[in-house]
Amino acid sequence: MSDLTVERASKAFGSTAAVDDVSLEVHDGDFAVLLGPSGCGKTTLLRLVAGFEHVDRGRILIDGKDVTSAKPGERDVAMVFQGYALYPHMTVFDNIAFGLRSIGLPKQEIAERVERVAASVEIEGLLGRRPGTLSGGQRQRVALARAISREPKVFLMDEPLSNLDTQLRASMRIEIKRLQNELGATVLYVTHDQVEAMTMGTMVAVLHDGRVAQVGTPDEIYERPRTQFVATFVGSPPMNLLKGTLQRDGSSCRFEGSGIQVALPERWAGAVGAEPRPVSLGVRPEDLHLGAVRPAASVPMGVCCVEVTEQMGHETVVHVSVGTSLLAARVRNTWQAAPGAEMPVSVDVERIQLYEAETGRALSVEDLQLSPVPA
Ligand SMILES: Nc1ncnc2c1ncn2[C@@H]1O[C@H](COP(=O)(O)OP(=O)(O)OP(=O)(O)O)[C@@H](O)[C@H]1O
Ligand SMILES: [Mg+2]
Repeated sequence: MSDLTVERASKAFGSTAAVDDVSLEVHDGDFAVLLGPSGCGKTTLLRLVAGFEHVDRGRILIDGKDVTSAKPGERDVAMVFQGYALYPHMTVFDNIAFGLRSIGLPKQEIAERVERVAASVEIEGLLGRRPGTLSGGQRQRVALARAISREPKVFLMDEPLSNLDTQLRASMRIEIKRLQNELGATVLYVTHDQVEAMTMGTMVAVLHDGRVAQVGTPDEIYERPRTQFVATFVGSPPMNLLKGTLQRDGSSCRFEGSGIQVALPERWAGAVGAEPRPVSLGVRPEDLHLGAVRPAASVPMGVCCVEVTEQMGHETVVHVSVGTSLLAARVRNTWQAAPGAEMPVSVDVERIQLYEAETGRALSVEDLQLSPVPA
C-alpha cells in the first residue's frame, strides 16, 4: 500500500481555523488514528486528504506524489463517511459497484470484485437489498465493502462505528483490524472514542482545536501525555490533576498544593529554581495506592477519605478526597471499603507527570532552562 504525508496543512471556514498547521506522517501499512473531541477538525482533515476540501496552506502527498490540488478521483483514496453515505435508491450490489463502474472496469470484473469484497465482510446475502432495509451494522459493512472494492492506496474512515451499539462496535473493531492486516492497508481512521483509538491504532494523533497536540503510539500517548489536554482526554477515568507548586527541598524537591505534599524523585529538582514553580501534578488512577501497605516505589501523600466506589466488574474505581481534591484510584475488584472510611494514600512517584501551570505542557527535566540553584 502507501505512505501519506500531511505537511503543515491549514483550512479555515470564515474565522474558524478547522485545521491549523497540521503535519502528519502515515507510513505504509500504518493504522493511524485521529483522536479528538467533537469539532476539533477530524472530519475536515480527512476531507482535505480525500480532496473534498482544499487546503488554504500546506501540502498533501501520497506515496511521495504531491496531490494537493488533485481531484478526489485522482488521489486513489477511499473514504468511509461518518454517516455511511450509501445511495438509498440503489441495491447493496450497485452501491458497491458504483465506484467501479465510474472507473470503467468491465462488467464481469465488477461482478467478481463485488462478490469477493461482499464475502470478506460477510454481506453476500444482502446484495439485492436496499440500504433502508439494513441494520446499522449491515450498512456499516456495505460502506466498508464499497471502500475495499476500490483497492485504494489509502483508506480514510470517519467514525465508521459511531452509530453501532456497544457489542457490534467491539466486534467491528476486530473485524476492521483483521481486514487491514489481511489487505496490508494504510488507514487513516477518525474517532472521538479513545478505546477505538488505543485498541486499533498503531499510531495516534490527538487533535485539539485544529492542531496536533501529540502524535505517538497508543502506549506513548497514555504513559507520557505531552499536554494536560492529552492527559485528561485519554484515559478513563482521566488522569488526576492537582494544582500546586514544585519546590526545592535542599538538593531534592517536592510538590505542594491542594492540601497535599509529595516528595518527588531528585531528578525533578532540575526543573525548579529558587522560586516555587506553579505546576499541576498528574497521576493516573492506577498509580494511586489506598491503605497502609504500599508498593516500594510509592510515596505517602496523606490520609484520604472514601467518597464513592464504582464497581466495574473487572476492577473498582474509588473516588477519594485528599486535601482539597477529589481523586480517582483504580483498585482490584476484591477491594472493599465503605464511604467515609479513612486510610493512607500513596502515589507511585516514578510514574507521575508535571505540567507547567501557564501552558499546560509537560515538564521534562531535559528541555528546561534552569535558574541557578541557590547556595
Ligand atoms: N463546511 C463548513 N463550513 C463552516 N464551518 C465548518 C465546515 N465544516 C466544518 N466546520 C467547522 O470546523 C470545525 C471542525 O469541524 P469538523 O467537522 O472537522 O470536526 P470533527 O472533529 O469532525 O467533529 P465531530 O467529532 O463532531 O464530527 C468545527 O468548528 C466546524 O463547525
Ligand atoms: Mg466529524
